[in-house]
Amino acid sequence: MAEALRILAVAGSLRAESYNRKLLRIGVKILQEAGAEVDVLDLREVPLPLMDEDLEDREGLPPGAVEIKRRLGQAQGFLISSPEYNSSIPGIFKNAIDWATRGEGSVFEGKVGALMAASPGRWGGLRMMPHLRQVLTVLGVWLTPSQINLVKAGDAFKEDGSLVSTFYAGQVQDLVTELLTELRRRYPA
Ligand code: FNR
Repeated sequence: MAEALRILAVAGSLRAESYNRKLLRIGVKILQEAGAEVDVLDLREVPLPLMDEDLEDREGLPPGAVEIKRRLGQAQGFLISSPEYNSSIPGIFKNAIDWATRGEGSVFEGKVGALMAASPGRWGGLRMMPHLRQVLTVLGVWLTPSQINLVKAGDAFKEDGSLVSTFYAGQVQDLVTELLTELRRRYPA
């Protein structure tokens, strides 16, 4: 039997009722139904200090950074859903990315990723996205040309967690398909 594709899914929010966490869950379900092995990285469960090079010099990588590096390192692809804070990447998410770039070896180089964002506002994280694209691209991640920007996220989800809009539901399906197509091209069965 062909080995399952390994994908790490992460939301860039710590909020329990995070819209991005909800959106991510929908993508994760589609990935799992397609046979992928998905590791959902919940940043609430991996405490990380703020990036501090003095701390790093003194103590090396904190345990949380070692853990996220290990899990990112095992993945062939990433599915990300991040909020927009003041038009950019939330500090907690950028902090996690920053820690993951420290220590030996790159856990990003040569990987494939797909980006989503959800916001209660009318732009759906559109201003944050180029920032996240830049950071990940420079780290060596190939990102799908498509992305999702879910607007008015406060009204976007049904009780069961699915999306009200069939348009957005189709977009998530298409994005995940794009991610899997690139992964299958790189890792043929
Ligand atoms: C926000 N929010 C926000 N929304 C947006 O569309 N553009 C923005 O620039 C900002 N800026 C911003 C800054 C800070 C510090 C906070 C805390 C929030 C609102 C944000 O989209 C909203 O809180 C979302 O619900 C966050 O995503 P999660 O946690 O629901 O996934």
